[in-house]
Amino acid sequence: MSKEIDKEILKTLAEKGLNTESFLEGLKSFKPLTYWDYIQTESLLNLQIQRSDLPDEMVFIVYHQINELLFKMILWELEQLANKKQLIAVFFSERLERISRYFDMLCSSFKIMKDGMELEQYMKFRKTLAPASGFQSAQYRKIEFACTELINLIDFRFRKTINRNTPFKHAFEHLYWQAAGKNHKTGEKSIMIKLFEEKYMEDFIDFMKKYNNKNIWSLFDNLPDKEKNNIDLVNSMRHLDHTVNIKWVMQHFNTASKYLDGANKVEKATGGSDWKKYMHPKYQRRTFFPKLWSVTELDNWGEQNLEGHEILSNFNDLKI
Ligand code: HEM
Repeated sequence: MSKEIDKEILKTLAEKGLNTESFLEGLKSFKPLTYWDYIQTESLLNLQIQRSDLPDEMVFIVYHQINELLFKMILWELEQLANKKQLIAVFFSERLERISRYFDMLCSSFKIMKDGMELEQYMKFRKTLAPASGFQSAQYRKIEFACTELINLIDFRFRKTINRNTPFKHAFEHLYWQAAGKNHKTGEKSIMIKLFEEKYMEDFIDFMKKYNNKNIWSLFDNLPDKEKNNIDLVNSMRHLDHTVNIKWVMQHFNTASKYLDGANKVEKATGGSDWKKYMHPKYQRRTFFPKLWSVTELDNWGEQNLEGHEILSNFNDLKI
């Protein structure tokens, strides 16, 4: 090592407030790094606890965990975008493409759920899971809060009554997903949603506040015109919206249909929702970036444009 590099390292250590001598002394008992310590493989592989003795339950658990790990990567990217100073279109678009790739992976791998478990086994072990449901994935909800303005996550029936001055708690009560857990007649919440809110509501409200002006749409909307008028960025945003809110939602819906419709009678969801009505994108019409779609595209949301969407070459049909 050259003397100059040596000095540079010592200077960095001092800047970090480390006592150089004891730091170097400590290096004497330094243990060489191993793959298993760094990746924490043993801890990771000890986290798959079945509730039944049916082998395919392992497929179910591991695949859900893989989803949660990818959700973590997505939130990681979203946070970096939210905190980026002087955001420019090229960086913005590159990071959105990363997020889309994670979601692409989740979409193309959903077959692991749809085709990878014996129906008979699934019907047995699912009975041990109620009232738990993927609905209670907190990271999935956070991804939504970090992607779009809150109004786009509000149930269509209440949108007119909610604006930027509405208290967050009130907006929370009118999120689209409340419909999956409420008895329409009495307004009473299901046990699935009660437990979910007990555990995460405060965290969600903090998160909603944090991303209120830093979600992907707000970041885009606040770009200077020069950066905003970038068609590649707009295409990246459309791709993300389509992948999350049509492709993933439809893969999920088709999987639920196979298992819950596949048995002799239509099965109740473990979380207890009226799932057929609730989950289809043509009913929910969930969109992160509605202003980036034409009126026709929005009218056909979830019906015709399942596999792909048009790549734009200009801004003609958009309302921005
Ligand atoms: C056999 C596989 C699956 C079936 C049958 C299934 C079924 C369902 C059902 C019926 C619901 C509605 C809520 C309820 O009443 O339970 C739901 C919601 C949900 N599930 Fe799954 N699911 C499966 C796999 C997955 C996977 C792998 C994930 C990934 C984490 C996931 C995440 C979610 C999420 C985020 C929701 C809420 C969606 C929304 O609010 O629109 N599910 N699932």
